[in-house]
Amino acid sequence: GLPERVEIYEVGPRDGLQNESAVVPVAVKAEFLDRLADAGLRTLEATSFVHPKWVPQLADAAELLDVLTRRDGLDYPVLVPNERGLDRALEAGVTHAAVFASATETFAQRNLNRSLDEQFAMFEPVVTRAVENGLRVRAYVSMVFGDPWEGGVDPAQAAAVGERLMAMGCDQLSLGDTIGVATPGHVGAVLDACGALGLGPETLAVHFHDTYGQALSNTLAALRHGVTTVDASAGGLGGCPYAGSATGNLATEDLVWMLDGLGIAHGVDLDALVATSVWMAGHLGRPSPSRVVRALTPA
Ligand code: HMG
Ligand code: MG
Repeated sequence: GLPERVEIYEVGPRDGLQNESAVVPVAVKAEFLDRLADAGLRTLEATSFVHPKWVPQLADAAELLDVLTRRDGLDYPVLVPNERGLDRALEAGVTHAAVFASATETFAQRNLNRSLDEQFAMFEPVVTRAVENGLRVRAYVSMVFGDPWEGGVDPAQAAAVGERLMAMGCDQLSLGDTIGVATPGHVGAVLDACGALGLGPETLAVHFHDTYGQALSNTLAALRHGVTTVDASAGGLGGCPYAGSATGNLATEDLVWMLDGLGIAHGVDLDALVATSVWMAGHLGRPSPSRVVRALTPA
């Protein structure tokens, strides 16, 4: 069966923008977040408190959260890799953080400058202290379905990385197909591997990139396995600066179109969302890669 409702976890302002080389003005980022909220999105991953030299686009995280009016009832999670990042996030008054681990050794080195084992030592005090401070903490695992340097990834290995993060006190595990290589059968295998470690679909989210055009099919497979939280990026923006072959995330508009067709509730106003992505595409100087945005935008 399929769920009656899906929670869309919007990552455009973070995953979408982090790969843009031209720095987007902080006022544009704040307006992007406001427009997404106006369009009905309730969870908006706003930015990252990572090292500013690693992701210059998001170096303005504190300033963004300062100028942004955070609305009651809406959730603005931020990425936090280490204690320095947590200090900065707490200073900015965040209530929801996300740590992000790698399922593979190579990507742990490239994305976090840590070995696979060392990443847990980095995250443990972050999660502990975040929870002590009343924050909710999401756990991401990247390269769950494949890695550009190592190739295939064992579902049991990916699930084990997620399980270690959840044991620290995280409340949700987002399974990242960083380079978009997953296919629906593989999604089922990973969700089963998570289930075997006691991580049922109610604690999971899926995070697909659309590099190979499989993001929607993979999402449908996950919904059929009981997952009800889906990460998506307005207009299909996105990519990861430390994974060359990563392209845009699943476009939120493409997801909404599919959910509408299936009669699954989501709370998003598609026209307002498309208008937002068209507006953002204007700022970025190139059209949205989302098929739904293109189909609904007159030439
Ligand atoms: P490092 O160089 O090993 O850092 O980077 P360090 O711990 O050795 O510290 C070096 C210096 O940096 C110190 O300063 C720290 O204070 C400072 P010094 O004492 O020398 O003056 N520093 C910081 N400053 C500000 N904010 C911080 C911070 N941390 C250290 N947070 C680190 C390690 C983890 C920080 C670095 O590797 C990093 O920032 N990585 C982030 C990379 C990133 O953001 N990648 C994209 C997000 S992941 C993704 O997109 C995948 C996802 O979408 C899911 C999917 O698709 O699969 C989530
Ligand atoms: Mg991503």
